[in-house]
Amino acid sequence: MHTSSPHLTALVERLSLEQKVRLLTGASVWSLHDEPAVGLRPIVVSDGPTGVRGAAVDDREPSASLPSASSVSATWDLEQVRRLGALIAAEARAKGVDVVLGPTVNLHRSPRGGRHFEAFSEDPYLTGEFGAAYVGAVQAHGVATTAKHYVANDTETDRFTVDVRADERTLRELYLAPFERMVGAGAWLVMSAYNGVNGAPMSTNPLLRDPLKDEWGFDGVVISDWGAVHDTDASAASGQDLVMPGPDGPWGGALVEAVEDGHVPEAAIDEKVARLLLLASRVGALEGAPEAVPVRPWEDSAIADLLRETAADGMVLARNDGTLPVEPRDGLKVAVIGQHARRARAQGGGSASVFPRHVVTPLDGLREAFGEEAVTFAPGLPPADELHPFTRGQVTDPVTGTPGVHVRYLDQDGTAFAEDTTPSGRLAWLGDERLVRAARIELTTRVTADRDGRHDLGFAGLGGFTLEIDGETAAAETVSPAGEDPVTAVLNPPSVTVTRDLALGQSVELRLTYSPTLMGGFPFGLVLLGAKDVFGDPAEELRSAVGAAAAADLAVVVVGTTESIESEGFDRPRLTLPEGQDELVRRIREANPRTVVVVNSGAPVIMPWLDEVAAVLLSWFPGQEFGAALADVITGAREPGGRLPTSWPAREEDVPVWTVEPHEGRLAYTEGLHIGYRAWLKREQAGGHAPALPFGSGLGYTTWRIGEPSVTTAGDRLVVEADVANTGARPGKQVLQAYLSRPGSAVERPVAWLAGFTAVRAEAGGRVRARLEIAPRAFQHWDTDAHAWVTESGEFTLRLATSVADPGHTVTVTPAAGTV
Ligand code: BGC
Repeated sequence: MHTSSPHLTALVERLSLEQKVRLLTGASVWSLHDEPAVGLRPIVVSDGPTGVRGAAVDDREPSASLPSASSVSATWDLEQVRRLGALIAAEARAKGVDVVLGPTVNLHRSPRGGRHFEAFSEDPYLTGEFGAAYVGAVQAHGVATTAKHYVANDTETDRFTVDVRADERTLRELYLAPFERMVGAGAWLVMSAYNGVNGAPMSTNPLLRDPLKDEWGFDGVVISDWGAVHDTDASAASGQDLVMPGPDGPWGGALVEAVEDGHVPEAAIDEKVARLLLLASRVGALEGAPEAVPVRPWEDSAIADLLRETAADGMVLARNDGTLPVEPRDGLKVAVIGQHARRARAQGGGSASVFPRHVVTPLDGLREAFGEEAVTFAPGLPPADELHPFTRGQVTDPVTGTPGVHVRYLDQDGTAFAEDTTPSGRLAWLGDERLVRAARIELTTRVTADRDGRHDLGFAGLGGFTLEIDGETAAAETVSPAGEDPVTAVLNPPSVTVTRDLALGQSVELRLTYSPTLMGGFPFGLVLLGAKDVFGDPAEELRSAVGAAAAADLAVVVVGTTESIESEGFDRPRLTLPEGQDELVRRIREANPRTVVVVNSGAPVIMPWLDEVAAVLLSWFPGQEFGAALADVITGAREPGGRLPTSWPAREEDVPVWTVEPHEGRLAYTEGLHIGYRAWLKREQAGGHAPALPFGSGLGYTTWRIGEPSVTTAGDRLVVEADVANTGARPGKQVLQAYLSRPGSAVERPVAWLAGFTAVRAEAGGRVRARLEIAPRAFQHWDTDAHAWVTESGEFTLRLATSVADPGHTVTVTPAAGTV
């Protein structure tokens, strides 16, 4: 079926203008309107991309928490995305979700980007391949995907208003390229971004028509980012199809009038509705269309197995002096150091977050692998200033006696109009009528101390709060939002705590009365009821961490970013680790030369101790099985399979694209084609520093010999093949990467660019034949005079290597000439 099929046209004709326009704004935050007149049921959408959250933004409907995009792309193995895609589809179906709001295919233009973890790479080809595999894998099960955020939404600073300035060729070759690939892979939706490009907000931008719909033939729905559409006529007349969230928005009645007044052609409305009905038929939401493909829910154990394997396959071994792997043996003592070992960052913050049933922390995973008695833990540094909501099992609803928190909703005159139990101390309401109607919400729970001593109990949220402990008022405060980004303000509220001394097993009753403040009137509220981690005297705690390391055979230090420095809604001002972590690594290293550092971040951080420690593993945000996967890699049960999908700098001052702050509302992409490794190579040619860890690099536990490549053609593609021999004593994985370059090109070019890759695996002593295909696009550049892709005739150099910095093997290749 296509949008102009007679069947869809007939359905559209059956609807009045009002009925049609009604369909073009969401019915709620996460759902679209139904229309019985054409047999349309509501379509449900959900974030995405690293799992499927569903409608609830708390622990009521737990989700599988997948590795974030930078971890997935670090596998350089499209098969892993295909397997994750099947899980995403199953999760969506289990939650009644038709549309997943992902993948994110913006680029790592600057390592400072706050949503770096959510995007695949600094390279448009790698991004496109991973995004396309995601789209194909999820949609094969009848669940829609959304390529987002179209386009040039690569950083977060002033994200709602920034006007990105980029030239035509840069847009085509870098930022639009992954979207073109998504459309080629058949993505059913594209999300228009908050930002503007070259003077027009993306929700009204001509790029929605051309190239997206006209040149590329995108036949799906352009959904807006949440709250991104601000006007009626320009957005409706543009390629924008659907305004989210609903039920209110700038279209509705105003759009009906605009059509009646002749400002927006009715044909534009018909086209949008036809696209929406086509989407409905694809996801099984339209009567008469084929039923959605059946998808069976996954067992928890199958989810855990897959997530454990993919997380390990994305971990990058950045350095190893031979210390890793460390097989468990009797008497081995392991010191596990760092707050991140017990408060792991399994996922990034913001709209991509899901609420998993469990997270295996590094400490849990290492205890499981080496044995409880073998492992000593010391946090070493003070905890991040975060309130941790009470988990399931820590709290009991005093009214029902079941686990959780009792919630009562009271209206203006104090009458309770609803009540229920939530499973944990994290409570959120999004688009929930009860939040809008309630003058007060009362949360009551009984919490039992899990140890003797000091407990910092409290709450976080926006609005008026009174906290009573065992019937006595302990705190009464009105908490105001910090900053203007509503999502960030609601998701990161300030906290208030009070200190109580409790004995192990002693329980207290907490009653929190909450009078909600709705930012901009938007029905979104979040309240955390929980405790902060307590910490002793800092000097004493550091000494005890150093002592633990000195007494152990192996020290594993887990460092990383925090929710307040790396998340959606803002960019990182610095790339350094939070205060004290570099010093902690050094102190542990001095105490024990067998120190392995695990870096738990979604994006590059500066590692001044990189060459001084025994081994460094980059874990990214690896999802709920973090600790299990980490233990597999440390013990050698699995190889760390990752290679860097983005360059890691040694020093902040070396970073080629640093500025993410707009100047007078504009953010100019003045570096043009040269971002990521392309920029590093250009600088190196001019005598600049190389990155600490180059693009595509990463170690394994075995050694390899790669033979001379042979090049043949298959249709319009070049086929590169090479013998790959595992010359070591362990099974392993290698990632072969093909880079093109064009010495003496008539046009400006990157020094080299990725044109193909493949992951191969071989047993100890085993051999495999690696095969990579190079598509014609790899040779083309965008000609701004012809406004077309053009292939320069003549020779290109192809280098088959194991990273962008590896000399590898080079061969000369000649593509077919001409404009395609
Ligand atoms: C984000 C989108 C997300 C949407 C819905 C926005 O703030 O930019 O990526 O899908 O919220 O949560």
